[in-house]
Order: sequence, then C-alpha cells, then structure tokens
Amino acid sequence: MADFSFQPTGSIFEEREALLEEWTPDKLVGRDKELQQYHAALQPVIEGETPSNIFLYGKSGVGKTAATRFLLTRLEYDAEQIAGLDLHRIEINCDGLNSSYQTAVALVNELRDPNNQISNTGYPQSSVYEFLFDELDKLGGTVLIVLDEVDHIQDDSLLYKLPRARSNDDISDVRLGVIGISNDLSFRNQLSSKVRSSLCEKEVSFSAYNATELQEVLRQREEVAFQNGVLDDGVIQMCAAYGAKDSGDARQALDLLLESGDIAREKNADLVTEEHVREARERLQTNQVIEGISNYSTHGQLVLWSLTILAKQGETPARTREIRDPYEQLCEQEGTDPVSDRAVREYLAELKTLGIISSTQENRGKGGGKYKKHELEQSVESVREGLSELFEAPV
Ligand SMILES: Nc1ncnc2c1ncn2[C@@H]1O[C@H](COP(=O)(O)OP(=O)(O)O)[C@@H](O)[C@H]1O
Ligand SMILES: [Mg+2]
Repeated sequence: MADFSFQPTGSIFEEREALLEEWTPDKLVGRDKELQQYHAALQPVIEGETPSNIFLYGKSGVGKTAATRFLLTRLEYDAEQIAGLDLHRIEINCDGLNSSYQTAVALVNELRDPNNQISNTGYPQSSVYEFLFDELDKLGGTVLIVLDEVDHIQDDSLLYKLPRARSNDDISDVRLGVIGISNDLSFRNQLSSKVRSSLCEKEVSFSAYNATELQEVLRQREEVAFQNGVLDDGVIQMCAAYGAKDSGDARQALDLLLESGDIAREKNADLVTEEHVREARERLQTNQVIEGISNYSTHGQLVLWSLTILAKQGETPARTREIRDPYEQLCEQEGTDPVSDRAVREYLAELKTLGIISSTQENRGKGGGKYKKHELEQSVESVREGLSELFEAPV
C-alpha cells in the first residue's frame, strides 16, 4: 500500500491563504478607472454632505466587492481625521435574503444589540421599516448602507424607501447613502424608473478584466502566496489568458493559479509549470461539470444516470431507446413518472450541449433510417459526484 502518512513539504507556497476567497489585498490593481469614478461618487461624504446613492454593476469576479471594501476602509480612515464627521458603514450581502422584508430585518438586526434582535416573521413590513429608520436616526452622523448582490431582492419596496428616506421624512437626524451592487447586468434596467432614479444617482460600471489586468492581479498575489521563483515562465500569462478568454473573472483566474500550485505540490515538483496549469484547468472544468449536473432538472439527471449505468456495464455508446429501460427503472425507484421519448431526446441533446455526453448519428444502411448513439464525455466518477447531490446512492 502507498504511504499515506502526512508530512509537510514546505514547498511551492509561502502563504497559500493569499489565493483564497477570504483574502483581501490592500491594494487593487487594474481598476484605476473604476476606482476613480467610485472615489468621486463618495466625495460628498468627506465634505460632510448628504452622500449620493451609488450603484455598481458588472459581472461577478470583476472586483466590485473588493473595490467597495478598499475604498470604504480608506474613507473611514480619512473620515476619522475630520472633526465632527461621524461615519458608519453597514454592509449586507443580499444573497439568501430574497425580499425587501428579509433585507430590512437583516439591517435592523445589524444595527441593534445582539440581545434585541427581531425575527423574520411576526411584524408587518411597515413596522420593520419604522424600526429601521429609528435605528438609523439613533445612530446619527453619516451612514452608508452597502447592499451587495442586491439583485437577489425580488421586490422594489426597500429599494424605493431607503434611498428616499430623507426626502420622505422617514429619517431626520442622519445622512444616509445607499450603495447597491449587482452582478446581474439586466437588474438595473428592470427597476422601475422611480427606483432607478434614486438608487442609481451615481453609477459605476465594472468591466470584465482583460489578460493584461489579470496578469497584474495574479502577479500581486504571486508575491505573497508563492515562494520566490517557483512559478515557471509563462505560468502567470497562461492563467491570465485563460481567465480573460473564459470570463474576465479574477476569482476564476486566481482559482486556476491556486489549483496549479496544488498540483505542483502533489507531484513534488520544484516549479509550477504550464503543464500544471493545463491540468488544473481540466480539473476545474470537471468541477464545473459536476456543479452543472447537480443544478440540472430531475429528469435530465435521471436520463444521465441511465446512460452512466450503461457506461459502467460497458454498453455505451448506447442508442436512445436502449436508455429507455434503465431510465424507466430509475423513475420507478425514485417514485416519479417517466417523461415521453421525445422529452428524453431533448434531455440528451441538452446534455450534449453541456459537454457532459457526446452523440453520433449512425446510418442503418439502405432504407434503414438514422439513429443516434450516446456516450459519456466525462468520467463516471465525476458524473456520479454531480448526481449524488440529488440522489442518495447513484450508480
Ligand atoms: N483588482 C484586483 N486586485 C486584486 N484582487 C482582485 C482584484 N479584483 C478582484 N480581485 C479578487 O478577485 C476576487 C473577486 O473579486 P470580487 O470583488 O469579489 O468580485 P465581484 O464582487 O465583482 O464579484 C476576490 O477574491 C478579490 O480579492
Ligand atoms: Mg461581490
């Protein structure tokens, strides 16, 4: 048996943590234009004026949250040097808070003592807003409320009330500014015009990173995360190029660099090489497939599971109608009615588009017509892993 004892290698990484999600750099690179606009939009705060409501948008991983933390930390620091300027920041991530009501409750609880919290039920919406405005007035000074991933809030009400609280006399003793952040580009356009005009007084759009900007981001982390000189020539360029091509998402590029380092360490290599990056990318793509499968519809998954059973038995490529048998058995086992042949064919076509299976057209020869054969494009293990979120013990 292989040796499974654990020994620190102390190789490759200096501080691996610096590549993880939680780590915030104290300097942001490659975002000069965005930071300048954002900085200007925050200027009224330091002048002691009523803050503008600011709306940030751009795809995920383009630095919106990081830029907000960076600038607000800086702003708080500079505000402390100014007599009479009393600045508070409240930051909330709206992922998981699906309504104005839940978000308002979360804000109230953020503002209140731990022993004076309110529950997510039991108060009419208007009372929750009253609690919120009371707490804000009590706090006084200047308050910036950051609503990160604000597109998760399904209804307009809070986004209407909060930016207008002062003009509607809901609050009187506090200068309030709302900073809304959205990953969903269409969110802004779906807002009613009266909400948009108050929530989006100043807008900053964050573009996707290009390869040059991603290189800057990656080099900055390299210094902290890796030991000197362990990244082979071309590794950073390659991660940045893939990152820019895929999505321009800094998180994805950082994940790729991290996985590459992990692979180098697994192989006891002295250097992280381009080969490691290629392998890392394949692994991460497999993970994405797994995630794709686990978010897929139940019958789509059952069809895939059927094909996986056939693959395990060495019976693939399999014809569409050969998939029917195991599929019907699985439906029975899971207590659900099978969908039509046509629907199964549609699921197979979708699975093909997702890159999970491949299908080839076969001709039966003279007058025999055509039929399709399907097989897995991914390993049985990774498909199985994706399916296991929905089913107890697939395959
Ligand atoms: N300009 C940058 N410099 C350094 N790190 C960055 C930069 N932009 C993004 N990151 C890092 O990339 C990840 C994603 O950024 P984040 O601000 O969370 O994106 P968003 O909020 O737009 O989805 C974070 O780990 C962040 O630290
Ligand atoms: Mg974010």
